[in-house]
Amino acid sequence: MIKVVVHGALGKMGREVVNAICHDPETKLVGAVDINLKDTFLPLPDGSGKVPLSSDLDNIITAQKPDVLVDFSLAKAALNAARTAAKKKVHLVSGTTGLTQADLDEIDRLAKANGVGAVVASNFALGAVVMMHLAKVAAKYFDYAEIIELHHHLKADAPSGTALTTARSMAKAHGKPFLTPSEKDTTMKSRGEQVEGIALHSVRLPGLLAHQEVLFGIAGQTLSIRHDTISRECYMPGVLLAVKQVHNYKGLVSGLAALLNLE
Ligand SMILES: NC(=O)c1ccc[n+]([C@@H]2O[C@H](COP(=O)([O-])OP(=O)(O)OC[C@H]3O[C@@H](n4cnc5c(N)ncnc54)[C@H](O)[C@@H]3O)[C@@H](O)[C@H]2O)c1
Repeated sequence: MIKVVVHGALGKMGREVVNAICHDPETKLVGAVDINLKDTFLPLPDGSGKVPLSSDLDNIITAQKPDVLVDFSLAKAALNAARTAAKKKVHLVSGTTGLTQADLDEIDRLAKANGVGAVVASNFALGAVVMMHLAKVAAKYFDYAEIIELHHHLKADAPSGTALTTARSMAKAHGKPFLTPSEKDTTMKSRGEQVEGIALHSVRLPGLLAHQEVLFGIAGQTLSIRHDTISRECYMPGVLLAVKQVHNYKGLVSGLAALLNLE
């Protein structure tokens, strides 16, 4: 049984992770951490009891001795949590977005120095990881490509990190920037953000969660690869996979592709 502490446990993703960890036969929630707490215990969603809840990660790790820390919080909090986890020789699985390359380098260094793994992924939806992989494969065969990403209206950033990562990895696989159609309108106002010759279009509407379509074109044919999520449950198979595999690594594993043998 893999013992898990969740950091950011009272947030939207944290609650979903707590639920998933409690319902998986191979994992056990032993503690929860959040700054936004009113109680010292978190009742388990399956009704089987409660676990300690605290704002002090260091204390919870010392008392509960988890194997893995799962973090879905804020970038600054995530980096501190990663430092604490590494110091205590606890593996890390983090989905918090907004970590810089310098943060990731530090997480890698600390994890290696302490002999633990750290899976940090900005998208835990397995379908999205497969979509990015397929887009990379298709990128070799098409000269034109565009990406439409659609998200809920409260999303802070545009274009999404997933769309940017997809575009950059497609251009790398293509070996050169994609071709752009010759435009009559030189302001390009309606043609999205241009990344490596790929136009990225961002749609923001209530009712959406996270969706992305990659469209390729070449004379006489198009290819579309689309991924849709309809609830935060979509991230849980990826989180559980990382929780179960992170002990196989030392240092940082960036993204889920390696865990899915997609590299
Ligand atoms: N990787 C993925 O697949 C994926 C998917 C969805 C969201 N996210 C990311 O996960 C993160 C959390 O998203 P959310 O929607 O759950 O946000 P949220 O605001 O609902 O939850 C964040 C939680 O972290 C807690 N927190 C903040 N600072 C803390 C600290 N110093 N110590 C302990 N807890 C702290 C907050 O109190 C809150 O409960 C964001 O960075 C988001 O972009 C990643």
